[in-house]
Amino acid sequence: MVYSRLARRLRATGKNTFGEYLDLLEKGGADEWERFVNSLTTNLTSFFREPHHFPIFADHLLKLGTKRPIRIWCSAASTGEEPYSIAITVLETFGANASHVSIFASDLDTNVLATAQKGVYPIERVEKMSADRLKRFFLKGSGAQEGYVAVRPELKRLIEFQRVNLLEPNWPVRGPLDIIFCRNVMIYFDKPTQYKILSRFAPMMQPDGLMLAGHSESFLHAADLFKSMGKTVYALAKAR
Ligand SMILES: C[S@@+](CC[C@H](N)C(=O)[O-])C[C@H]1O[C@@H](n2cnc3c(N)ncnc32)[C@H](O)[C@@H]1O
Repeated sequence: MVYSRLARRLRATGKNTFGEYLDLLEKGGADEWERFVNSLTTNLTSFFREPHHFPIFADHLLKLGTKRPIRIWCSAASTGEEPYSIAITVLETFGANASHVSIFASDLDTNVLATAQKGVYPIERVEKMSADRLKRFFLKGSGAQEGYVAVRPELKRLIEFQRVNLLEPNWPVRGPLDIIFCRNVMIYFDKPTQYKILSRFAPMMQPDGLMLAGHSESFLHAADLFKSMGKTVYALAKAR
């Protein structure tokens, strides 16, 4: 996988060997470093992926109500389907009274973030969406945009996109957070790295905050930080 992905970068930069490509990186091409990282990420995602999380999320929103700001971090947002699914759930829950909710959506990969920010998708990406949702939250393209849908501005307004590498020391994320979506990204890290990230998540959260993980991720090794509530939903292990 690494070979075929980097072979594309070799072709694009006109290098004949991995050694030559490495030289190019080491000579300080910041732009190429970014493309190198972007080429290695796996960005599979979809609207309302792992759908069982969304009713749980909606219930939590209802419990929190409208009296204080609600902050959500979508920490591996990929091409945007996940943060837009979050925004749809927010608007379905609060209707027009959602101005107290903010969604911070981040990813390591700048290419996928650019797609996310644009919010334009081939129509097949939304074919499982109900007709009601489609009508309420998407605009159908015509002419040159035939075959595409664009998310409506009211979804975009709820979300701020920014590049964040979960492995770097500084996260420009404003807490306290009510919910962290951290789905299908921890699988790429070993357990000590997962633990380090979780130990940084915990103090950023509201005492009753929730953290949502991907279907194949389990954080039993961090039971001192997070307790499982079932269905890959986690709460803080200790009330702070
Ligand atoms: C498989 S996708 C999952 C997307 C979405 N969370 C979902 O569940 O549908 C994994 C995402 O994690 C991002 N990623 C990988 N390493 C990362 C890191 N160190 N920091 C932040 N994001 C990272 C990738 O760029 C990719 O978009």
